[in-house]
Amino acid sequence: MARLKLGILISGRGSNMQALARAFSTPDAAAEIAVIVSSTPAAAGLDWARQQDLPCHVVDHRDHADRDSFDAALDARLREAGVDLVCLAGFMRLLGDTFVEAWRDRLINIHPSLLPAFKGRHPQRQAIEAGVQISGCTVHFVRPAMDAGPIVGQAAVPVHAEDDENALAGRILEAEHRLYPAVVQLIAEGAVTVCGERVVLAPMARERLNACNGLPH
Ligand code: GRF
Repeated sequence: MARLKLGILISGRGSNMQALARAFSTPDAAAEIAVIVSSTPAAAGLDWARQQDLPCHVVDHRDHADRDSFDAALDARLREAGVDLVCLAGFMRLLGDTFVEAWRDRLINIHPSLLPAFKGRHPQRQAIEAGVQISGCTVHFVRPAMDAGPIVGQAAVPVHAEDDENALAGRILEAEHRLYPAVVQLIAEGAVTVCGERVVLAPMARERLNACNGLPH
């Protein structure tokens, strides 16, 4: 079966990009990294990607007069690499509706909360301030509204009484690094179907995602 070609969009550290690249690095993997695109030349993740000889590009948002032109440049990079699935991994630019619709059900994001709770910026801080005892991360298909769209997978982690934002962010990040590759693996296997605004998972897929949880069993 043909391998799913991934386009990973980053703006910073790129630890989720690394988790995906590591998970799909072998020739028999179900997916491969077709291209990595950063919205800024300063993204630390680019250094790692270059060291690994992964194909990367910078589409600098400052070189584009408006969002449409930036989105079109991104789209062109993804299409010339033959990308099947776009994975947002700490990508800090809002994508326009035209781009999002063009990649409908082929564009996923990871967000460090259990959506639909704590959308937007600083979700870990929001979780601490709300006093929740469980938080986590969500991988979802992207829709034009921010941090919205059919949920593919979630991983939960405990929030401890003494946690500050950084401690919680670190615990959630470990779960992100398990969840994101697991979700992409399921998509590559054809185990994920979008029906309306909900995802239907093939039998056993939910159990495999449950293994990403960081809660005591
Ligand atoms: C992660 O917490 C991700 O969920 C959020 O941005 C952060 C990116 O981290 N969207 P990294 O660049 O993947 O290390």
